Amino acid sequence: MCPLDSPQTQAVLRGPQVHPQSTARQWPAEGFTRAPYWVYSDPDIYAQEQLKIFRGKTWNYLGLEAEVPHAGAYKTTYIGETSVLLTRAEDGSLHALVNRCAHRGNMVCREAFGTVKKLNCVYHAWNYNLKGDLTHAAFSKGLRGEGGLPKDFDMAEHGLQKLRVATICGLVFASFSDETEPLEEWLGDVAAGIRRLLHKPLKVLGYDTQRIHANWKAYHENPRDSYHANILHTFYGTFGLSRQSQESGMVLDSAGRHVYFYTKAGTEKNGGDYKETASDLRSHNDELKLEDPGILKWRDEFGDGVSVQILTTYPSFVLHQIANSLATRQLLPKGPTQADLVWTYFGFEDDDEETTRMRLLQANLAGSAGMISVEDAAVCEMMQRAMADGQSGESFIEMGGRELDSGGASKLSERAIRNFWHNYRLDMEL
Ligand code: FES
Ligand SMILES: [Fe+2]
Repeated sequence: MCPLDSPQTQAVLRGPQVHPQSTARQWPAEGFTRAPYWVYSDPDIYAQEQLKIFRGKTWNYLGLEAEVPHAGAYKTTYIGETSVLLTRAEDGSLHALVNRCAHRGNMVCREAFGTVKKLNCVYHAWNYNLKGDLTHAAFSKGLRGEGGLPKDFDMAEHGLQKLRVATICGLVFASFSDETEPLEEWLGDVAAGIRRLLHKPLKVLGYDTQRIHANWKAYHENPRDSYHANILHTFYGTFGLSRQSQESGMVLDSAGRHVYFYTKAGTEKNGGDYKETASDLRSHNDELKLEDPGILKWRDEFGDGVSVQILTTYPSFVLHQIANSLATRQLLPKGPTQADLVWTYFGFEDDDEETTRMRLLQANLAGSAGMISVEDAAVCEMMQRAMADGQSGESFIEMGGRELDSGGASKLSERAIRNFWHNYRLDMEL
């Protein structure tokens, strides 16, 4: 067992586990401009989220098509806490299957990635094809006239649970719901941010998984929060990759589930203004210099001047471009007060060596110890500790206004967070 997973360590990390009675679980009257702190630690809420959000009417990111490049390739991952397999069958089709044997519930695949001819459960050797159909059950006819499965046992009724699967530009999503609209419709205007970035075949460069000791929603809010980016992150402001004074914008889909922000470095309209407003920001520090400024040498590879684009889809996916560092982030809840964040760094198949080197160097901006993103997990964990009693208090989310669309396209706004809580409350019936 990982030392972090021991019950003693978990108890310390969780902090006080005091939860309000259900009568006290009233959402504040102000609605989506508030988020009560109990929603970040309550175990009943957490269980409901698994059902109503992750296994509900959402599309959840599973991985990149490039991670299952050939027939027989599979990847194991999660949707919420449900173990899920992404497979590529002999005919090239992609499949999303619950990674749980139809016999007695054993996990069918344990490795992160693999290539197989069939999916074999080790417990009693039930075999499935890569589409999840049961093809063989050991000793199904018994032996010497004894044992075996009932005569009317129908293999077709005992396959792995199949999920809907859909792709956009090499990203693979799956849904437990037959009712959710098709993926691209669900993404709405935010799909444009995906198409802009993923315009040709991808190549995986590496992985990084970090455990964040905070509720998954504390992290989910973070990349939707354009207000913090230039304030919390010293590197952005000081070295000019992203500042409020630069040309920037925010795009949401019509339902407000998804969002992306972009910033164009080098477009300061009035440097004086920025200095004045930023002079008391911890994130702007004229004293700091880089010994090797190589990490700041980025190339406008998309030809539109955008230096940073952060895209978030509800409930658990982020796609980022920070200069030429490209990555996906998959948010996996691991209990009410912790979550894993899986970073997958990628480039394009036709990148030359120099471009790959540049992406890898700039990968130091992101990830668990990234010069920009290290502060995000730290803040989520500090929030969790401060909110841990779950008894009282609520977030105040009125930057940019009190309506779902107030704040417009300005990055100085919590519009995308208000929209998150609006959709969350609809799904959770809270
Ligand atoms: S649990 Fe999988 S074969 Fe028995
Ligand atoms: Fe951040």
